[in-house]
Amino acid sequence: MNYEKELLIPKKIISERIKELADAIEEEYRGKELVLVGILKGAIFFLTDLARELSLPTKIDFIRVASYGSKMEPGAISLTKDVELSVEGKPVLIVEDIVDTGQTLSYVKELLEEKGAESVKICVLIDKKERREKEINIDYCAFRVEKGFLVGYGLDYNEEGRCLPEIYVLKEQK
Ligand code: IMP
Ligand code: MG
Repeated sequence: MNYEKELLIPKKIISERIKELADAIEEEYRGKELVLVGILKGAIFFLTDLARELSLPTKIDFIRVASYGSKMEPGAISLTKDVELSVEGKPVLIVEDIVDTGQTLSYVKELLEEKGAESVKICVLIDKKERREKEINIDYCAFRVEKGFLVGYGLDYNEEGRCLPEIYVLKEQK
């Protein structure tokens, strides 16, 4: 299938929204040392931009999961890279590119809770509503969309489009 991309969220809007999220996160975690746990690879740009806006003592780590689905369809999840820092007794904020069915985030949240984190909250770049299967509380969200397949700013389609600086929606070519 062939797709063309249409600009959805420009760079300036992304960075303004990240500053607002950082202000709210600072407010909540003031006086604490926060651990940001990014989910590879999609969250890399979001996490690094967010982390640099936070005036808090912050540590970063990454987790990676594999989802056995097709390129656009979700599937079963398994852990392929665990966190390396100890999160025991620490406030943790998971940073993810997009929540779709909610399977990935509920899996990762449970895993970090089992490691004894003081708290585990969730920060996503995009909350995509249409295909949600798991009830999941999103604590911080930059943008909400109803549906569609997005690329750019970390989001990929079969590894393509990830490094685009803005967020696009894929449209099937007529
Ligand atoms: P969930 O487990 O169904 O919530 O899926 C989350 C994962 O699916 C994300 O981490 C992405 O890797 C991938 N995903 C879902 N929707 C999109 C999209 O629109 N663009 C790129 N990746 C997506
Ligand atoms: Mg992902």
